[in-house]
Amino acid sequence: MCSIIAYAGQRVAAPMLVQGLKRMEYRGYDSVGLATISNKHILVKKGVGKVEEVNKSLGLEKMNGSVGIGHTRWATHGGVTDTNAHPHQNCKNDIAIVHNGIIDNYSELKKSLIARGHKFRSETDSEVIAHLLGDFLHKKYDIKKAMINITKKLKGTYAFVAVFDDGTVAGARFDEPLIVGISKDGYFVSSDVLGFIEHTDKAIFLDNDEFVILNDNGHAIFNFDGSKVKKQVTQIAWELADAEKGRFAHYTLKEINEQKHTIINALFSKDSKLDEFCDVVAGAKRVVLTGSGSSYNAALIAKQLFSKYAGIHCEAVISSEFQYASGLLDKDSVLIAISQSGETADLLQAVKIAKASEARILSIVNTPTSSLARTSDLFLGINCGPEIGVAATKSFTAQLALIYRITDILSGQKLCPNKSDVERAIGKVLNDTKNIANIAEKIKYIGNIYILGRGLHFPVAIEGALKLKELVYVHAEGLPAGELKHGPLALMDENTTVIMLNPDDETYSDTLSNVHEIKARGASVIGVSNVNSNKYDNWIKIPKAKDILYPILEVIPLQLLAYHTALKRESNPDYPRHLAKSVTVK
Ligand code: BG6
Repeated sequence: MCSIIAYAGQRVAAPMLVQGLKRMEYRGYDSVGLATISNKHILVKKGVGKVEEVNKSLGLEKMNGSVGIGHTRWATHGGVTDTNAHPHQNCKNDIAIVHNGIIDNYSELKKSLIARGHKFRSETDSEVIAHLLGDFLHKKYDIKKAMINITKKLKGTYAFVAVFDDGTVAGARFDEPLIVGISKDGYFVSSDVLGFIEHTDKAIFLDNDEFVILNDNGHAIFNFDGSKVKKQVTQIAWELADAEKGRFAHYTLKEINEQKHTIINALFSKDSKLDEFCDVVAGAKRVVLTGSGSSYNAALIAKQLFSKYAGIHCEAVISSEFQYASGLLDKDSVLIAISQSGETADLLQAVKIAKASEARILSIVNTPTSSLARTSDLFLGINCGPEIGVAATKSFTAQLALIYRITDILSGQKLCPNKSDVERAIGKVLNDTKNIANIAEKIKYIGNIYILGRGLHFPVAIEGALKLKELVYVHAEGLPAGELKHGPLALMDENTTVIMLNPDDETYSDTLSNVHEIKARGASVIGVSNVNSNKYDNWIKIPKAKDILYPILEVIPLQLLAYHTALKRESNPDYPRHLAKSVTVK
């Protein structure tokens, strides 16, 4: 996905647009561009690279004008080139647009525009928006009418913002987030509150099928049919400081270290909606959990905990697979959707499908103003603050902690973790960086790595493997240790490295036998456990704790291992190649 930002007001736009794009760069970071208006002329500068680099080479911040738009790209249609970078313009260059999403019918629109003499400069789907607007305005210069007409034509998902040489800014949203920021000296339009959090905490969240027009008369919001909409102004909870790296070299390391607070907050959450949430789950005939990436791995742990401690048996379905799992839900069912961003397209589609079968929608989300939170019947916040690092870290453990809290209530307080024990244990694992950095040095050039665990440790093994994939670009696989003899053992030899999740709980002795089987084939084993073994080539010690806490205590060292190994391979842990923080396109 991409990030969009716009400003119209009294101040010089470019420096604020560049700063806003830097804050949203986790959304997509292969190319950047700005368009600003001064003296009824639109100036466009764009290029391949990260905001910092392109700003330095093209002087984006120095562009004149108090009206402008900006964009960071995560390529879907057309390669990563200067020409395909946004903004895109119409033939007369009196309009410039930035777009996030996918225009499904762009090629037929493009064909008919070319047939009417339009000249296209890029390979993107987005450029059709600029030419279509130009086409409508050519007939009659009425921007509101043009927005009504274009939203009738476009098929797919989109949030786009256009700037016109008369200084007007217009933006529309369909299945992609778009937010208006209201500051004392002007208006922002952005994909994310982080785009303007430095300047205001007052925001209007556009809903689907709405567009906004900013001009000398201020702001106005309309439905796609042109009817005016009165919208509520929301006070944003997040502070600017939350979105800063502070003393840390990377957001990922900062967010890993924030877990000493974020886990406790979620584990002892006092959310007033908790009891109602649990009542709905307990009252449902069928419970289905869904999520993508790390959020799906949290769903796998919820499935085990609800069943083991509360006797509630549920399904966990990957969001992108949900559309193929028909007949899963009905009016007596509940879908629990788990998401950090609350904007992941696959997950929002799963929610749409569940709503169509009249199921109740509960969600566990980090962004309380997200599309998921606003479309759910009831949502619980994990409240771990903005997560900028592309690989989920603190959001995953906060999801687990809130799931423990829910399980505790559903099971009649069977879990009840002790606060100071948890704080002490997390502090210990966060301090083991030296040992982990040494292990990272040893594994930095391996091609394959397997993470094994049983029971609750299996989903953690999958999550650990995901961190290594995301940050180290290595083939990493999370496997149920019990499956070893049914195939994966064939992969074990002196070139293989295995991470064994093996704290001394009910899985300990069976998993230790697996360690012996693996060592017998010559592979090297990194043991993650509160108990050492002479079979481990390397040991990552975690503190003795209540069994229920081991999934949280063992995933943190795996996050740190992925982080330190990425550094050893000189890749940027915050912006892994080809990925984005939340994927708002299918
Ligand atoms: C990916 C992120 O794009 O989306 C992962 O890189 C994340 O870290 C996944 O787990 C799901 O995102 P969300 O916001 O729905 O939890």
